[in-house]
Amino acid sequence: MLRYLGSKTLLVEQINELIDPQPKGSVFCDPFGGIGTVGSYMKQKGFQVISGDLLQFAHYFQKALIQLDAPPTFPNLISETGGDVESFLNQISAQHGWLIKSYCEERSFFTQENAEHIQGCIDAIWGWKASHHIDENEYAFLIASLIQSMDRVANTAGTYYAYLKRYYRKAIQPFNFRFLHPVQGEYPCQCYLKDANTLVKQHECQILYLDPPYNTRDYAKYYHLPETIARGEVPIPTGKSGVPDRHEIRSPYIQQTKVEGAFRELLASSCCQMILFHYTDNGLLHEEFIRDTLSELGGTIEEYFFDCKGYRTSSLSSSVSSKHHVYKVTL
Ligand SMILES: C[S@@+](CC[C@H](N)C(=O)[O-])C[C@H]1O[C@@H](n2cnc3c(N)ncnc32)[C@H](O)[C@@H]1O
Repeated sequence: MLRYLGSKTLLVEQINELIDPQPKGSVFCDPFGGIGTVGSYMKQKGFQVISGDLLQFAHYFQKALIQLDAPPTFPNLISETGGDVESFLNQISAQHGWLIKSYCEERSFFTQENAEHIQGCIDAIWGWKASHHIDENEYAFLIASLIQSMDRVANTAGTYYAYLKRYYRKAIQPFNFRFLHPVQGEYPCQCYLKDANTLVKQHECQILYLDPPYNTRDYAKYYHLPETIARGEVPIPTGKSGVPDRHEIRSPYIQQTKVEGAFRELLASSCCQMILFHYTDNGLLHEEFIRDTLSELGGTIEEYFFDCKGYRTSSLSSSVSSKHHVYKVTL
């Protein structure tokens, strides 16, 4: 999967153990769902997942992996692609375009050959959307698959905040367009492009899993290129990394002056039986504030610590080695 800041890939089993046992079909709500790592795991485990994020590209990953149960069949693309959209996108390329110019010729995010191929895919997918040959789910699926495929050959150290000076090993591999694989589950799941506080207000659930950003890093900037591709907007790149000058709504969870109010408001409007709050001890919200705010809900609080590799550690060693602090509130 795409390397995503704060991804819980190594911790999904541990998170599941903290909520086990729960009846099949229980609603698991993941309003800071990112690219769907936790939500797709929980779907497989028999939960009805509701997930959200503010970023368009993250929302499309969630749709592709969690909301869909199988790759779309693209009935309106049969005549153009011969019925095999994956192979079709694997063979096209473009000579010119904004990605080639701004993110290859001016900034070495991709080799020339890969940039031409990626540009061809972008032009085709954006064009199919504009001509109504694909619907929103099909577009989401193709865009998420493209971003995942593109990330495998991106000349970065992980995020799109910077590119490497020389083309690194992974960047000189040939680009291959590959479909993502939607995860199978027994219950319907829904993904929303929404602020977490709004989503929580609108949905009751059994388990509310909260995994917000814990510092001031802005995901919209670190993943600007996936976001541009998902939004379908030709960007006006600025600066060394080509971050477009977009007037985004900045999440309150990355702002020291707003995070406490947002967290308090979210908890006050939640309606659930269990909350798992996944954070770090050096984050914008301080431990004491978190404990006080969670205890205002009533219920019992248990605390768990995990290191970066997903191993459970004791609270005593937490200050030294733990990165993950999970507060479990049973209501
Ligand atoms: C720590 S990451 C989640 C990682 C995810 N659990 C995973 O394993 O991939 C936090 C996510 O919260 C999103 N986010 C930040 N502020 C938000 C808000 N106000 N509402 C919804 N999502 C938000 C970010 O875009 C980011 O994807």
